[in-house]
Order: sequence, then C-alpha cells, then structure tokens
Amino acid sequence: MTPFVADPVYLNGQFLPLAEAGISPLDRGFLYGDGVYELIPVYSRRAFRLDEHLKRLQATLAGIKLANPLAPAEWKAVVEKLIATAHWEDQSIYLQVTRGADNKRDHAFPPATVAPTAFAFASPLVVTPAEVRAKGVAAITVADQRWARCDLKVISLLANILARQQAVEEGCAEALLVRDGYLKEGAASNIFVVKDGILLAPPKTHLMLPGITYDIVLELAESCGQPLEIREIHENELRSADEVWMTSSTKEILAITTLDGAPVGTGKPGPIGEQMWQRYQDFKNTIMRKG
Ligand code: PDD
Repeated sequence: MTPFVADPVYLNGQFLPLAEAGISPLDRGFLYGDGVYELIPVYSRRAFRLDEHLKRLQATLAGIKLANPLAPAEWKAVVEKLIATAHWEDQSIYLQVTRGADNKRDHAFPPATVAPTAFAFASPLVVTPAEVRAKGVAAITVADQRWARCDLKVISLLANILARQQAVEEGCAEALLVRDGYLKEGAASNIFVVKDGILLAPPKTHLMLPGITYDIVLELAESCGQPLEIREIHENELRSADEVWMTSSTKEILAITTLDGAPVGTGKPGPIGEQMWQRYQDFKNTIMRKG
C-alpha cells in the first residue's frame, strides 16, 4: 500500500525518513497545541499559491509572537524538495511550526535559546470523487465555540475537531459554525451562500480564517461580473439560501445540498456554484498544468 506520508519528511533542517523523525514529548506543540500550520495543494508538481500560503504562515506566526524559523526562499526550497521526492503528481504539503521544547512545562514562552520545531511533509492530494461532487454533500450547523482569533491558522483545533466529528457522526461532511446568529465558516472550510443570483461571502474578521481558496473565488467572481456582497450572513439567510458551498485547498468548491436535514435550494448543486467550480478548474489548469 502506498504510504500517506512521503519519505523523506523535513524536520528542523534535515530531510529524513518519517520513522526517524522524532521530537521531544516536551515540545510545546504536543503539550499546549502551541504552533501553526499550512496546507498547500500541489498540482502537476507545482505548489498552488505558495507565496500566499507562506504569507499567511508569516501572519499567523506574527499573531502568536513566534519568529519564523525559515525565510520564504528557504520554505520554498523545502517545499520543492518534498514535491520532487514524493511519488505523486498531485500532492498536499503540510507545514507546521511549534514553539519548540523547553526543559520544563510553563505556559509563558520559553527562553529565546529554545529553537522552534519546523516540520513538513508531502501526501497524495485527496480529491472529492466526481459522483460526490455531482450530488453535493450534507452539512449541519453548530454553535461556534472557538476562541476569538480564528483568523490565525493555529494547530490548536479542538473546537473545529469536535464540530467536524459531530458532523461525521450525523453522516455529514461539514459543520457550519454559527456565532451570535451569523455564519462564520466551516470546521475546516470557508462558506459561500447564493441568494437571488447574488453571491454572499462573510467578511474577513478575527472570527474567520482568510482562506486562500476564498480569495480565489472572490477574484473569479469579480473578474466575471458575478454580483457579490461581502457582509455578515445571518443564520436565517443561510437557511433560505438558493446555494451554499464550502471552499478549501483540498475541497476546492463543493456544494452543500442538505443543511440540518433540509434541502438547500433545489437540493442539487446550483448553477452559480457549478460555473464557479468550472472557472476554478480553468484557472488552476491554466496556471498549474500548462504554462
Ligand atoms: N483547512 N477555514 C478553516 C477553519 C480551515 O481549516 C480551512 C482550511 C479553510 C480554508 O482555507 P484554504 O482555502 O486556505 O484551504 C477555512 C485546511 C485545508 C485544513 O485544516 O486541513
């Protein structure tokens, strides 16, 4: 069986087999979830929107007051080497940085002499099967119980994990997070809504992760003249939507056709989502697979 994580992986300046990549149990990622991550899709061995992912990594590191252990060019070299040595043409690259391992457990930051832990690996890109995409997926709504800096892509994801697990236990693909009556995003995706031909997108605030795919959808909507409103979306608008989609680096654009057991719009993927999916494929294929 093809392994899910390619060898070698990257750990703290070295490329080595996963089986030999060890970290201290005192690593603050393990003890506290004190770290950050990125997930970058790779098409035909080219990392998609790598600069944007590295910028978001930098913004998250700044947000948790952790110096970036690698310069952008160094991250690029790591990513390129992982891509080149993995078996697959299409991959996902996972990057993680934690605040490293001190010799004790203490909430406050360790001394500056403690180096961060930097870890990265390549996996095969897991794509949505065409038959699933054609039908769309089911989702539930749950109360958003995350902290107040959801714009940071941190590894402490417990509230997201519990929300996604609840969705899975209810036979659904995603949990939509609602806070104070307004839709924020999904447990691991951004959410778009279509009503009366208008595309609605929640604004980038501290309560939503600024998705790389979200940005592409906005760019595509603007370039093709799709009516667009970036504003808070009330739960009632979500429930009466014509279309709801989730977006992420791995899900791309995926229709949610059932919400809390009720059909969304016609109960089938809608036309605006279908057009956007096609535009996204064209965009991706033009810049990644050709030129
Ligand atoms: N998650 N919102 C949340 C909470 C996410 O975890 C993600 C992505 C997104 C979409 O971001 P992007 O378009 O940059 O992938 C939005 C990744 C895929 C993950 O956690 O594995």
